[in-house]
Amino acid sequence: MNLKEKYIPDGTRYDNGEKMYARCGRSGILLPRVSLGFWQNFGENAPYERSRAITRCAFDNGITHFDLANNYGPPYGTAEETMGKLMLDDFGPYRDELFISTKAGYDMWPGPYGNWGSRKYLFASLDQSLRRMNLDYVDLFYIHRYDPHTPLEETLQALVDIVRSGKALYVGISRWPLEALKFAYDYLKERDVPPLIYQGRLNLLDREPQAEGILDFCEEKGIGFISFSPLAQGVLTDRYLAGIPEGSRMSRGGTLTGDRLTPQVTDYLARLHEAATRRGETMAGTALAWVLSQRGVTSVLVGASSVEQLKENIKCINSPLMSDGEAEYYRL
Ligand SMILES: NC(=O)c1ccc[n+]([C@@H]2O[C@H](COP(=O)([O-])OP(=O)(O)OC[C@H]3O[C@@H](n4cnc5c(N)ncnc54)[C@H](OP(=O)(O)O)[C@@H]3O)[C@@H](O)[C@H]2O)c1
Repeated sequence: MNLKEKYIPDGTRYDNGEKMYARCGRSGILLPRVSLGFWQNFGENAPYERSRAITRCAFDNGITHFDLANNYGPPYGTAEETMGKLMLDDFGPYRDELFISTKAGYDMWPGPYGNWGSRKYLFASLDQSLRRMNLDYVDLFYIHRYDPHTPLEETLQALVDIVRSGKALYVGISRWPLEALKFAYDYLKERDVPPLIYQGRLNLLDREPQAEGILDFCEEKGIGFISFSPLAQGVLTDRYLAGIPEGSRMSRGGTLTGDRLTPQVTDYLARLHEAATRRGETMAGTALAWVLSQRGVTSVLVGASSVEQLKENIKCINSPLMSDGEAEYYRL
């Protein structure tokens, strides 16, 4: 790929559409089964040309959904700045082919108005995000986390008004407990802005949204579900089969630390490796196929620090879905 030349997307990018796209809940939106997240590999700390190559590869393969948040980087805000540069350099002509999300909810700027779920914070943050990304609107705006102190009505009304302002087309909920999600659904639906999607962590090592009943609720109400960290930040790949390699996310500390590799998890990874080999897949492929096989899941939201990783991860759309019985076999 010559990054100096004008970007011409692959003309075959929608050819595998039947396998690639799934309806997001009961909505008009089709999302790719594999979406690309900008959490860790697209900030100022990552070489721009690498981020650019990964993003081009995604779009060339039909990945139309890019997921961001105000605080992705590091440092905060810089993943959105990279997205903004990509819009100018490569993706401006393809804006209508893209589904771009961002979020607010975590600490973003100092003082009392740069965190949590107030109307003041959400409006100001989205304006900042749009400026950084060189966008007039986002397709999807999420409340990034549950705020136990702000009245839910205030946060939800801000989401409604953001949609009415045209700055976002849809709203989503990330990491809210079930009871709060139920309240949000009723509030938003009554105001004709039903939540499009719920974002939660679901992978072979962490099934909390299932256990809590979030997936069942989403399915019943026609809300899509997108799984973040479907590879448990890389643990469910061959990356950690023989310790902690240099340059890996775990070697950098931060959001993934070595204590994740307990003896139980290490044994589990060896078993997963064997099972994936029997399926003729990589561990990442099997781990992603497992998530996509769960009822109610619209998309897996993968991260990738290289084009090679992304290409490997995309293959999961061709994997046969697992029956409940087979999926159960992979329980830790
Ligand atoms: N709503 C929320 O609160 C929330 C929270 C977290 C994430 N998210 C979203 O979810 C997205 C994905 O999260 P995530 O980055 O944790 O996802 P992930 O796909 O579980 O992990 C991605 C990391 O795993 C490694 N990896 C990926 N594919 C690999 C492969 N084929 N072989 C070997 N290693 C591989 C890479 O790490 P190395 O650096 O080791 O190469 C990569 O950066 C984020 O970008 C963000 O959009 C949302």
